[in-house]
Amino acid sequence: MIQIERLEKTFTQPGGERVPALRGVDIVIPTGQFVTVIGTNGSGKSTLLNAVAGSFFPDAGKITIDGIDVTNQAEFKRASLIGRVFQDPFKGTCPSMTVAENLRMAELRGQRRGLRVGLSRLSLDRYHEQLKGLGMRLEGRLRASMGTLSGGQRQAVTLLMATLKRPQLLLLDEHTAALDPRAAEQIIHITEEVVRENKLTTLMVTHSMDQALEQGDRTIMMHRGEMLADLSGSERAGLNANDLLKRFTELRYTVEFAVANKPTA
Ligand SMILES: Nc1ncnc2c1ncn2[C@@H]1O[C@H](COP(=O)(O)OP(=O)(O)OP(=O)(O)O)[C@@H](O)[C@H]1O
Ligand SMILES: [Mg+2]
Repeated sequence: MIQIERLEKTFTQPGGERVPALRGVDIVIPTGQFVTVIGTNGSGKSTLLNAVAGSFFPDAGKITIDGIDVTNQAEFKRASLIGRVFQDPFKGTCPSMTVAENLRMAELRGQRRGLRVGLSRLSLDRYHEQLKGLGMRLEGRLRASMGTLSGGQRQAVTLLMATLKRPQLLLLDEHTAALDPRAAEQIIHITEEVVRENKLTTLMVTHSMDQALEQGDRTIMMHRGEMLADLSGSERAGLNANDLLKRFTELRYTVEFAVANKPTA
């Protein structure tokens, strides 16, 4: 279970302007739940995922992953609990290393250096099977360098790397946004399968209302660093992308109105 309590983060821009990116976010994610996250640009979606991953420390609040308080834990320390895939297919892998070497690196993550061993026939065979399962013609590319793969193929390998050791939490930040529609669809399909097969607790940011509703069990909407809505169960099941957009627009309007009419001290 992931517990995010009253999480706050304000960034100071180079000009000195202070931007509140997270304003008291509370979310409890039961183990195995797949949550999709939508929201306007700059609403704090990536900041939320980055705070959970430990890219920076929050100003206030608490983050617990399966009972472990990670709030002030260094990013590398909590890395073994978390799998991540970013929007940029070039992030998260080493382009000059082969696909097999990248997979091996992911598999050895969190182990002491002394325990490291090279690529055995056994692990190569296993990777071959795992890549074949992705259905993106990657099984023949084990010895190809990562940099020669297409964006979609890279994201598929990155997804495999992020989930190889069955993390306690999978964080996906618009991981299909930089892909062409066909590759994006393939990656979403793979995501769905990997999450279901491994029963992974997942937070997936997306700009697609369709993806937000079709994938996972729950959808949260962010706006101005706050969670505007939290939809699951029959309420969510009865919504289509248009309803969601309408709901979002109404809620946003209410918030904007409240902000604009806030009495000044
Ligand atoms: N490292 C940083 N330094 C300064 N400001 C930042 C930093 N990271 C985020 N911000 C600011 O915090 C706010 C929230 O940003 P965030 O990246 O979380 O938004 P987002 O919801 O992911 O947006 P998008 O949909 O564009 O990816 C924005 O105003 C952004 O400019
Ligand atoms: Mg973002």
